Amino acid sequence: MNARTTSTTPSTRIRRRATVLRRTATALVASAAAVSLASCGVSDIGDSAEASPTKGDDITVGVLFPDKDTKRYEQFDYPNIKKKIAELTDNKGVTKYANADKDAETQNSQIDQMVADKVDIIILDAVDSKAVAPAVQKADDAGIPVIAYDRLAEGPIDGYVSFDNELVGQVQGRALVEDLGDSAANKIVMMNGSPSDPNAALFKDGALSELQDKVTISESFDTKDWDPKVAKVNMEQVVAKLGADNIDAVYAANDGIAGAVIDVLKTAGVAKVPPVTGQDADLDAVQRILSGDQYMTVYKSFPTQASAAAEMAVAKVQGRSIEFEALARDSIDSPTTKNIPAQLVPPVALTKNNIQDTVIADEIYTVKQICTAEFKSDCDAVNLK
Ligand code: BGC
Repeated sequence: MNARTTSTTPSTRIRRRATVLRRTATALVASAAAVSLASCGVSDIGDSAEASPTKGDDITVGVLFPDKDTKRYEQFDYPNIKKKIAELTDNKGVTKYANADKDAETQNSQIDQMVADKVDIIILDAVDSKAVAPAVQKADDAGIPVIAYDRLAEGPIDGYVSFDNELVGQVQGRALVEDLGDSAANKIVMMNGSPSDPNAALFKDGALSELQDKVTISESFDTKDWDPKVAKVNMEQVVAKLGADNIDAVYAANDGIAGAVIDVLKTAGVAKVPPVTGQDADLDAVQRILSGDQYMTVYKSFPTQASAAAEMAVAKVQGRSIEFEALARDSIDSPTTKNIPAQLVPPVALTKNNIQDTVIADEIYTVKQICTAEFKSDCDAVNLK
């Protein structure tokens, strides 16, 4: 990735593992414990941490995503995971896909189905990190490892691939303060993500660490299921209460929310849309940034994250523990599980000035896709050709 990486203040929840060997030693102890439990007849299914060491390339990877409103999942994450699994397995490995469309119960049934279908491993982006725990437990009981993707699912997961999510929030919050200046006269509205997603709390904490004591936070809302329709209703309420012209900036946790917020502000007739943040570098968000309607987004390299998950999944299933260790050098605790091997990719702030170095350099979009007729003069203005 050619993009400039924003400074990486490590989140307090993340530890960089001292040595790969230490975890390997722990894994060996864990597998010894599993063997002794098995020999007592406690479990003849085996511990998922040691699942299928003899598996070859002929594997099935279950991939589960949480919603369809957020474009990244079906546009980038899933296709990249699928491609990488094929690449790593000489085209013999396959994926099974399910999207729960914001429904936690549906997602649990989808996991149950994948367990019944005996997939070899699951890559899971949870709708609700707590509600998913019993389904994760069932997969573990069946000897199917689970790699949590992007959101830290609860229950006995075997690995985690995400971004430094607190840093995502810091990048968003800092961008607003840098643009507005540090003054209590600046009134900011916070439109956070879903309470069922642990990332949303990290984004909010990160953003607050930059905003608090520097600006005034006039209103703050959570957005159930990250649903832009919910964000629209919340923003309409804010505008009715404060008046559209009394909002100096909006912290919008992702681009779906940012789109809804900007629509409401425009409908309310603001002369100029105040700075609004976002996340995910959706194509329409990048275009809004060019036209000046959205101030920034956070670009998270989905191909990097997807490849990491695919590599971890294949290494895990094939019992290549040293490779798995090398891929997961961070360690994180969930409320139910300690020392989860993790890989956390750094996020990047995307503004008008680094579109070329981020989403274009990484081949997420072509200039042609971004610079349609409507945005031609905006593209010319920043020399995007
Ligand atoms: C992801 C974001 C996404 C949001 C809504 C979060 O967990 O990290 O990239 O926009 O969920 O799906």
